[in-house]
Amino acid sequence: MIVNTISLSNYRGYKKTDIVFGKGVNFFIGNNGSGKTNLLEAIYFLALAKSYKTVDNSTIMSEADFARINAKIISERDFSAKIVITRTGKKISLNNKEIDKLSDYIGKVLVLAFLPEDMDLIKGPPKNRRYFIDMIIGQIDRSYLIELANYKKILRQRNELLKLLSDTRSKDFTLLDIYTEQLAKSSRLIIDYRKHFVEKINLELVQMYHYLAANNKTIFFKYNPLIEDNILKQFQDKYDKDLIFKTTSLGPHRDDYDFFIDNLFARDFASQGEQRVIILAIILSIANIIIKEKKAKPILLLDDVFSELDYLRQNQLVKYLNSADMQSIITTTNIKDINNSFLNNSKIFSVKNHIVKEDKING
Ligand SMILES: Nc1ncnc2c1ncn2[C@@H]1O[C@H](COP(=O)(O)OP(=O)(O)OP(=O)(O)O)[C@@H](O)[C@H]1O
Ligand SMILES: [Mg+2]
Repeated sequence: MIVNTISLSNYRGYKKTDIVFGKGVNFFIGNNGSGKTNLLEAIYFLALAKSYKTVDNSTIMSEADFARINAKIISERDFSAKIVITRTGKKISLNNKEIDKLSDYIGKVLVLAFLPEDMDLIKGPPKNRRYFIDMIIGQIDRSYLIELANYKKILRQRNELLKLLSDTRSKDFTLLDIYTEQLAKSSRLIIDYRKHFVEKINLELVQMYHYLAANNKTIFFKYNPLIEDNILKQFQDKYDKDLIFKTTSLGPHRDDYDFFIDNLFARDFASQGEQRVIILAIILSIANIIIKEKKAKPILLLDDVFSELDYLRQNQLVKYLNSADMQSIITTTNIKDINNSFLNNSKIFSVKNHIVKEDKING
């Protein structure tokens, strides 16, 4: 899948901008604050129909009423996608036809993003890992998103009930039993999706890491579900505790993941650069899973990806992207370390004060 063109209106610092992307690696080079991340965010928004970790309407140019993202996507069947964001909501159109249900849209534009925030995937709180993995499984398999929404709904109802039962000191657990059974059923599904996904990543990850890191360290991604077997019983065993704390103390909403390098916790041992390579290896592994399962290549969005990578790893990454024949959009402050031979099939843009210009001179 390729994003052929994008037009932005009033999107963050972009008043009116049209960009024609290349089919391979696209570099957007500019100083801090020039608008590089905003551009990637716009493509991310287009794919996920929401902004990344901010409220949607913060993407509207200050003092404007709306922002608009328009794109032409080359895919098995080409299509156009449009998102109009207003202060009160957003409208999404596919081929100029407005979409009613968000879930009918998400997954049409396949992107995989590496954003600086993702750097705390390894050392940050479990919530970040869950969010990252949930979004990705959801993109690969929409039924996961639906189940996750179902799980969250049951969890919310159960937590409200726990609060009510606790506050009123009621001993009538009829409804609690029902919610708990529903939660156990949904947990089983969520846990199995996650397990299966992590198994698939591990099949790709070792090789991908070897390539990008240019070493032979073994990397392993581990899923740590809080409960795995006898789920219903484990929920029931926690009734007393849950009633005291007025919340569901275990379940997939508290699960976590770990990364290992040569059997050591990456969280404790990996350097900044190593963490970055691990995350990139994960993302590129996921890209391969998507290619296999969805028979479509995702668009890679790599924000400020070269920071902390040495000369060798920067070039390994670009070499890989060239050989993978996937569209990638990379932002960076400079490409001085990138070998000229890897730039031949790339498109290079400069970004200055939210103005994008294609650079005709390679290198
Ligand atoms: N809603 C908005 N309206 C107008 N301008 C905005 C809005 N949101 C962000 N900006 C502008 O975008 C700038 C940040 O741009 P961006 O994050 O894309 O920079 P960058 O090129 O990625 O920089 P860095 O190299 O530091 O990551 C801010 O300085 C701000 O001026
Ligand atoms: Mg940035």
